[in-house]
Amino acid sequence: MDNRIRIFDTTLRDGEQAPGCSMTPGEKLRIAQALSELNVDIIEAGFPAASPGDFESVKAIADANLGPTICGLARCNPEDIEKVHAAVKGADNHRIHVFVATSEIHREYKLKMAKEEIIKIAVGAIRLACELVDDVEFSPEDASRTELPYLAEVVSAAIEAGATTVNIPDTVGYTVPGEFELLFQYLTEHVENIDDICLSVHCHDDLGMAVANSLAAVRAGARQIECTINGIGERAGNCSLEEVVMALKTRAEFFGLHTDIETTRLYPTSRLVSSITGMHTPRNKAIVGENAFAHEAGIHQHGMLQNASTYEIMRPEDVGLSRSNLVLGKHSGRHAFRKRVQELGFTLGELETNRAFQAFKKLADQKKDVYDGDIEAIIMNVDGASAGPWFLKSLSVQTNSGQPATAMVMLVNEDGTEVNETASGDGPVAAAFTALETVTGVALTLKSFELHSASMGEDAQGEVTIAVEYGGSSYRGRAANVDIVEAGSRACLEVMNRILRRNKRTSESGQTTAVSRASI
Ligand code: KIV
Ligand code: ZN
Repeated sequence: MDNRIRIFDTTLRDGEQAPGCSMTPGEKLRIAQALSELNVDIIEAGFPAASPGDFESVKAIADANLGPTICGLARCNPEDIEKVHAAVKGADNHRIHVFVATSEIHREYKLKMAKEEIIKIAVGAIRLACELVDDVEFSPEDASRTELPYLAEVVSAAIEAGATTVNIPDTVGYTVPGEFELLFQYLTEHVENIDDICLSVHCHDDLGMAVANSLAAVRAGARQIECTINGIGERAGNCSLEEVVMALKTRAEFFGLHTDIETTRLYPTSRLVSSITGMHTPRNKAIVGENAFAHEAGIHQHGMLQNASTYEIMRPEDVGLSRSNLVLGKHSGRHAFRKRVQELGFTLGELETNRAFQAFKKLADQKKDVYDGDIEAIIMNVDGASAGPWFLKSLSVQTNSGQPATAMVMLVNEDGTEVNETASGDGPVAAAFTALETVTGVALTLKSFELHSASMGEDAQGEVTIAVEYGGSSYRGRAANVDIVEAGSRACLEVMNRILRRNKRTSESGQTTAVSRASI
């Protein structure tokens, strides 16, 4: 049996389904580029039938033809399958992934379908997908809670219908390693044609066992692991890519398996995904957490100085973590800046680099040391702030304890008009948001306001992520600044600008239906 494990990344599909993790098409493309540099085998770029926005972003990623196989998810119906085909066909290597639930609870309450009926629609969908592409994956959703003989029957029928990969999801994160290993053993023993396909595993982390369960599955014959960067995904998330890959690499002698992942890209890719989604990894997160390679206890530090392997089972360099976090200052030149940006996993065009470099110089005048977190925050700012129609020229706020705060904003429109507005509110953020709403005409409902320090020290930039609602849809905005009220205001303006651009596009194309939030 082949010893190579294929890595199927679903950050842009299952990961994006996590609350608060939706991404714009531009952000998805940037993550897809990083995934290709990480050398994943397959990128599940989205669920094209979910919305026109999802379709467009899967298509943009496929058309960029980045190297990995580009896959799209479809339910077992012709419309979904044809949409996936239309979206992914631009990539040299593309895949259609069809799924239907098979467990008793899903059959009875969700699908209201008998066992035979489910096999019938799965077989029909796989056959249709096989007419369109060579590479077809099938998933029996909630497989881990499906009766084993029936699961074997479904898998066998899927293979006969032409599936080239069969994926076994632990959809609700219910299984445990010993049980899951037995499930895979059962399938390899009871499904005659199982060697004709690549057996895959897809685990959720509800009981914190997604990585352990995925590793149990590969011990029993699975050769594809479905996972996400930082383990983001529905509810408690999915199997974390960086953890499962480093487990296979660090314990290669035990598993006798390998992946083709360029592990030195793990840390930059993790940082990219956390700054885009606003989902920050805990400090003690395995592999990519801030403390993953930090040694505090004196006895450990002593051991480390003698020989790093006393307390370190992996080298930080192997996951792309550079020991020196202190990077740049006001004397750093454009070349050093660009190099660090690349090391952090960003691919910027000439225009973006110029904008980011100018912002860096401005920041370096305000604070002495510019850290990786600051650079990431600059790049995120440049992204959001570069497209109008409104630009924040100045902001000043006044607060007095026990009294309402006042904010004065000066905004410039892309047509050159300058508008000043003053508003008051319970606090400086509320006052600034009200002033912005009055100028832009976009009234948002603020759902959350999260503040995260982009780097260290008293002069660190505050990175603000806001979640807001507008017209029944949710939006996320983010910005960073040494002044947190300004960061919040910029995040708010970024969302307002996106809504205004979307509204303009909709009215220009005469569309009246709402466009999904993912498309703006
Ligand atoms: O968790 C799950 O079952 C899924 C399938 C669509 C593969 O995400
Ligand atoms: Zn899933």
